[in-house]
Amino acid sequence: KPKRKAIMRSKLMMVDGLPMSDIVAVHWQDIRNFQAKPGDVLIATYPKSGTTWTQEMVELIRHNGDVEKCQRAPVFERIPCLELMRCMPPDLETVNAMPSPRYIKTHLPFNLVPSSFWEHNCKVIYVARNGRDTATSYYHFDRMAIMHPDPGTWDQYLQRFMSGNVGWGSWYDHVKGYWEGKDKCDMLYLFYEDIKQDPITEIRRIMKFLGKKLPDATVEKIAHCTSFNQMKNNDMANYSTFPKEIIDQSEQKFMRKGQVGDWKNIFTVRQNELFEEDYRKKMDHTTLKFKVSI
Ligand code: A3P
Repeated sequence: KPKRKAIMRSKLMMVDGLPMSDIVAVHWQDIRNFQAKPGDVLIATYPKSGTTWTQEMVELIRHNGDVEKCQRAPVFERIPCLELMRCMPPDLETVNAMPSPRYIKTHLPFNLVPSSFWEHNCKVIYVARNGRDTATSYYHFDRMAIMHPDPGTWDQYLQRFMSGNVGWGSWYDHVKGYWEGKDKCDMLYLFYEDIKQDPITEIRRIMKFLGKKLPDATVEKIAHCTSFNQMKNNDMANYSTFPKEIIDQSEQKFMRKGQVGDWKNIFTVRQNELFEEDYRKKMDHTTLKFKVSI
């Protein structure tokens, strides 16, 4: 196996109490001051929780299952990421000029979402994934995400994940923050595991939330087009055209496994025990519950 290339990786910087890639952190004021417009819809997630999957479902729903329309550009251009608007196209000015209703993705925690989204009562679709699978996916992702420090060994990374010292901060605070915030705004709180188990039902919930009615055949078509294998082979959904300076996919791919319970292949028994002990402390006081297998 060839040795991994030595690459210059970004560092994490603290911004408003959040560890954030310095390529994002240098533009922090622009991000915090982002001006949402009435009708904007925010897709919010902690990284690696099924963001891209949800973006593609939402895109197909809003375009009535029109696959051609969803081939017009890569998913990260069709639904741009708020934090990356100063790092890659489409830039902030382009997004500002996008016709309403705009769909925007963010990984910001609930308390750091720009206030303009709340002022305009924008809809939020939040997707949460169980912590073990999220940590597993994030570890593999950070091996290729040059925008983040090298993850080191899995054991080192898991410690960092548990302490919240990873890009966009603590998973625990993120999922709890939106869970507690869901009744304060117009939010649909979804779970990766539920979408995996019953995509049709969850697609219908998104449609209802967005006030969209579509025939059964279209809903089935959307579920088919957003299955892992279809998206993996769809260059407009699989991140194969994402800037290589930010994510280097020469050794592994963004579309990795797309499963529930893959954590069992990487957690040792001991790591699982430590994770569980720590999890109880952090998650005991919330009604939020996750499935760790289906
Ligand atoms: P894995 O690394 O576990 O495979 P995000 O889009 O938030 O970065 O999340 C990426 C994770 O979602 C990756 O998880 C990826 O494979 C998975 N994913 C992407 N599309 C999917 C789909 N259609 N079905 C299931 N999982 C999907």
